[in-house]
Amino acid sequence: MYIDTHCHLYKEYYNNIDDVINECKEVGVTKFIVNGCDMRSNIETIELANMYDDIYAAIGFHPTELADFKDEYFSWLEDHINDKKVVAIGEIGLDYHYNDTDKEKEIYVFRRQLDIAKKYNKPIIVHSRDSIQDTLDILKEYKLKGSIHAFNGSLEMAREFIKLGYMIGIGGVVTFKNAKNIKDVVNDTDLSYILLETDSPYLTPEPYRGTINSPKYIPLIAKCIGDIKGKSTTDILRVTADNASRLFDFLNK
Ligand code: NI
Repeated sequence: MYIDTHCHLYKEYYNNIDDVINECKEVGVTKFIVNGCDMRSNIETIELANMYDDIYAAIGFHPTELADFKDEYFSWLEDHINDKKVVAIGEIGLDYHYNDTDKEKEIYVFRRQLDIAKKYNKPIIVHSRDSIQDTLDILKEYKLKGSIHAFNGSLEMAREFIKLGYMIGIGGVVTFKNAKNIKDVVNDTDLSYILLETDSPYLTPEPYRGTINSPKYIPLIAKCIGDIKGKSTTDILRVTADNASRLFDFLNK
């Protein structure tokens, strides 16, 4: 039983979710945390989790999807945080990549969601792009646990997040030739702090870059990590699945 801890299996990207899940089963990937990003995808994520045994939901509001954000969405989040199969608040965080970024709004929405995570004792799934120092500084104020998804910071930063109680989400980027930084992080990070994820439909691993991503590529990411750490693909898949099971409370869902 292998796990994709971060993907977006929405209808707009995949014609047939049954096919995706069946292809994944063939390679042993049998558990998925689908992350919402805005109101529409959050609702869809909960629907998917109710429809498919293997799908679990993370719900939250993504920093680049706040154009039509309303304060009442926080109460929606609270109303659904204890829904069956909702295992985390995500995808939430900070993204300073674009020139028109409203940092203040992003930080406000991020903090309010962290408050909710704290209130309900839920893990979080964190997106951080060009914002890693602010992300770290804010998370230091909260005693939470979760995943730093698609981690792309330095080894030093990875250690800081681990010290706070977070795990490091590693996906397709680790297979890219020029991803020296992430390969270094993987090499130096104890396997007990690593989670596997695909971020499907984005960030497709080699050799399939340029095509749509799928959680069926989780074993490819595991193989790459295994090559870096001198371990078998099966060991990587097994240990990281155990890590995910420790972090996300699948059993009681
Ligand atoms: Ni994502």
